[in-house]
Amino acid sequence: MRQDVSMLVRPARNILGSLRVPGDKSISHRYAMLAALAAGRSSFQNFAPGADCASTLGCIRALGCQVEREEKGSVVVGGLGPQLRAPRTALDCGNSGSTLRMLSGILAAQPFTSELAGDESLSRRPMKRIIEPLTQMGARIAPENGDCAPLHICGGRLHGIEYRPPVASAQVKTCVLFAGLLAEGRTTVHEPARTRDHGEQALRAFGAEVERTGNTVSILGGQTLHALEAYVPGDISSAAFFLCAAAISPESNLVIDGVLLNPTRSALLDVLTAMGSRISMLQVEESYGELVGTIALLPPQFARKQRDSGGTGQGRRLTIEGASTALLIDELPVLAAIAPYTAEGLEVRDAGELRMKESDRLNAVTRNLQAMGAQVEQTVDGWRIPGGQRLHGAEIESYHDHRIAMAFAVAALRAEGDTFIRNADCVAISYPGFFTDLERLVER
Ligand code: S3P
Repeated sequence: MRQDVSMLVRPARNILGSLRVPGDKSISHRYAMLAALAAGRSSFQNFAPGADCASTLGCIRALGCQVEREEKGSVVVGGLGPQLRAPRTALDCGNSGSTLRMLSGILAAQPFTSELAGDESLSRRPMKRIIEPLTQMGARIAPENGDCAPLHICGGRLHGIEYRPPVASAQVKTCVLFAGLLAEGRTTVHEPARTRDHGEQALRAFGAEVERTGNTVSILGGQTLHALEAYVPGDISSAAFFLCAAAISPESNLVIDGVLLNPTRSALLDVLTAMGSRISMLQVEESYGELVGTIALLPPQFARKQRDSGGTGQGRRLTIEGASTALLIDELPVLAAIAPYTAEGLEVRDAGELRMKESDRLNAVTRNLQAMGAQVEQTVDGWRIPGGQRLHGAEIESYHDHRIAMAFAVAALRAEGDTFIRNADCVAISYPGFFTDLERLVER
């Protein structure tokens, strides 16, 4: 049985100071997996420190790669080239959907059978989305439990396909592209909506050619990868919690250095700007196709905006829908958690995918907002959340979901009274030092 580690979060006036967030989780997973397939020694500075990326490192180690974690967050991977070694036991993906889904693309092309398993939450998440394309490419995959993990993958020679995923998912796209790299012929993915492009950027960083036209990406199989030395930019989805905390505190002043600014990940900055924050980007540079820079969030216009709308939340409600939901998928819980404090409130549509995450995030956010006294309407694929509300401290259930725990730590900062976040240790999935960093930046 897991022990409940509750965290107390007290109200705060502002978020002040500067911060570096841990390395990006999405990029770290991809760099580690491709490093396994590149002959030679790759090394990554600022590799994501959370449990999810540790799961990926554990899996590639079990597949025969030498993996070392060095001081100051560096990781060194001794790659084996396109053929990995058969693992002796089931590969443990822990809580990480990215590990299971993207690694499946690589294992589908290996001349051995492997088993991929995960924790309770991961064992409930849908895997048909990767089983289908990989089966079309020639792999044989047997899920143990409906369409869910554990998955038994009987790999072998794959052939390229043209694939139209029914859902917009970067994990699925990357899984198919990784399989395509190891397949015969060309593999093409037509995305229903643009998703994060780190799979494509990482493949290029390791020396592969990947083509993109609009929402179509394609790769020719049989390309060899070379080892890479790279710096992993700070994770903007982790920075999101501090940016949102600053955005609801009228006199905040926050600077986040060395953070990922890839346009397929930074839509949050547009949303916060629309909500009244003043954001500048400084010292933007490119590293292996990824933009990285400094974000400064200045005291927001939030207070003025709220006055203009009479403080009643009657302003025009901000709506996130359609293709935007895919680009904001990991930031929607924290945006919803701060929405009651904003002038206009928030409506989210087309976000049914949130029910398929580490928890049912539509439901988790609704219940926790209600526990804090907020008015919120949950729809099949989103929420309607009026602005101009006052919330009170409450007992919050994280549902063992890191983004829910962090989202409500942010909501707690402007509530009246104290908040307890139950099972808050799950933040270690992506951001082990989250509560320490938060405590350092809040001004009470
Ligand atoms: C990710 C893609 C998204 C996201 C997840 C990381 C990735 O998942 O929610 O946290 O690194 O590709 P989906 O592909 O399921 O949308």
